[in-house]
Amino acid sequence: MTVFLGIDIGTSGTKTLAMREDGQILANATVEYPLYSPKPGWSEQDPADWWDATVKSVKKVMKAAKLKAADVGGLGLSGQMHGSVFVDKKGDVIRKALLWNDQRTAAECAEIERLAGGRKRLIKMVANPALTGFTAPKILWLRNNEKRNFDKTVQVLLPKDYVRFCLTGDFATEVSDASGTLLLDVVKRKWSKPLLNKLDLDASLFPQMYESEDVTGVLTASAAKAMGLQAGTPVVGGGGDQAASAIGNGIVRKGVVSATMGTSGVVFAHSDEVQVDPEGRLHTFCHAVRGKWHVMGCVLSAGGSLQWFRNELCQAEIAAAKKKKVDPYELITEQAAAAPAGSEGLFFLPYLSGERTPHADPNARGSWVGLSLRHGKGHMARSVMEGATYAMRDSLEIAKAMDIPVKEIRLSGGGARSEFWRQMQADIYGQPVVTINAEEGPAYGVALLAAAGTGAYRDVVEACKATISVVTKTAAKAAAKKVYNAAYPVYQNLYGSLKSDFESIQGLL
Ligand code: XUL
Repeated sequence: MTVFLGIDIGTSGTKTLAMREDGQILANATVEYPLYSPKPGWSEQDPADWWDATVKSVKKVMKAAKLKAADVGGLGLSGQMHGSVFVDKKGDVIRKALLWNDQRTAAECAEIERLAGGRKRLIKMVANPALTGFTAPKILWLRNNEKRNFDKTVQVLLPKDYVRFCLTGDFATEVSDASGTLLLDVVKRKWSKPLLNKLDLDASLFPQMYESEDVTGVLTASAAKAMGLQAGTPVVGGGGDQAASAIGNGIVRKGVVSATMGTSGVVFAHSDEVQVDPEGRLHTFCHAVRGKWHVMGCVLSAGGSLQWFRNELCQAEIAAAKKKKVDPYELITEQAAAAPAGSEGLFFLPYLSGERTPHADPNARGSWVGLSLRHGKGHMARSVMEGATYAMRDSLEIAKAMDIPVKEIRLSGGGARSEFWRQMQADIYGQPVVTINAEEGPAYGVALLAAAGTGAYRDVVEACKATISVVTKTAAKAAAKKVYNAAYPVYQNLYGSLKSDFESIQGLL
């Protein structure tokens, strides 16, 4: 049976998996690499590390699954979105890539809004406002701060598209990842000439555009040799990690929405038409499904808030868990479960890294509000989980207000593995939540795109139908739902109450 490779260029490492045509995963391997932060708020990686990790992880997977080069029918690429790789005319990388979580571009975001003729006009052109993590402000930053590097640049590539260039020798991208550059006309699914003109950026800087399941090129002889694959093996467009992950979760039709509680939390809804939040709180991007779109909300520290709580405040639990040979989260969750729903009036705002959705505020701070003598560690743990879940509900509420139906919520990420957190999500979202049989995320999604794009399936929707199914369903409990429905507006109000204080705190630093 033909096998497809899905390769995800993540922030902590590159994960490759081999998937049989029927969806079964044969092997996967992750190769890690460093992240550089030369100044506060800066976040960079060396694209050479991505290529090296790609070669190594492909080799590992081929070996683990005992595959021959001829077994591989195609490759799909996914990756961290919004990054920028600056390439010169010889095809060499000019400087380290700026990543999605880099915060250096506040001035350039303002510059883009001004050059575009205001925020509203910008949203009209590219469906989204300028955010510091996006690609376009990074390009302007290079022009404003490293003019010599900017002058040498002939191509700006997204992380996975740089790896594509190493694999195939082609400069190419696809619509889902390109949406996160802020330079795509999301409605027409091509580069926005009007915005490029306003920003005085040459269209030749940007690669050829494809739909996500299209074949963009084939493996060169040298890339094939480096990885032990066959020259000429097709490489499909793939997707930005969020769209790819959504494919891996089967989010390919209206009404089916995913809530992924990883370090960051993402709410992702498929849409048949372009639907734009006029306030720009949710991103509106092209989907990796041909001719479709999605809206997406991103909570920067969702599971990351609980991780912070564990690392900073749960040394005793970590030690006890080691003795008992269990995961520390199990012990923390037991304590959280002993506190009642709503944590007896204790709220946690999960803005530990500022916030993207819905506030787009780098100054926002994590906070506990409502502490009293009655509260113990269990309340604190529970309130952290509740705060992260309220933050996800914010995105669901905005989607619903945009008339995007939310009929089925599919959970994934760490928050889906705990029964307790699954129940809390059902109770806070106020509707049933489900989990599915696949847990592999973006690499799986792009393996499915590779299968669809090379003819194993009619399209990726058919590929998802054939491979993905619901395995658990958790209904909301009426009593907890009532408590959370009363508490949620209080949570929502707290950001507004503290916003100017967050700004003042920033001013002190
Ligand atoms: C999506 C986003 C992150 C990155 C890194 O908008 O910023 O998901 O793609 O994973």
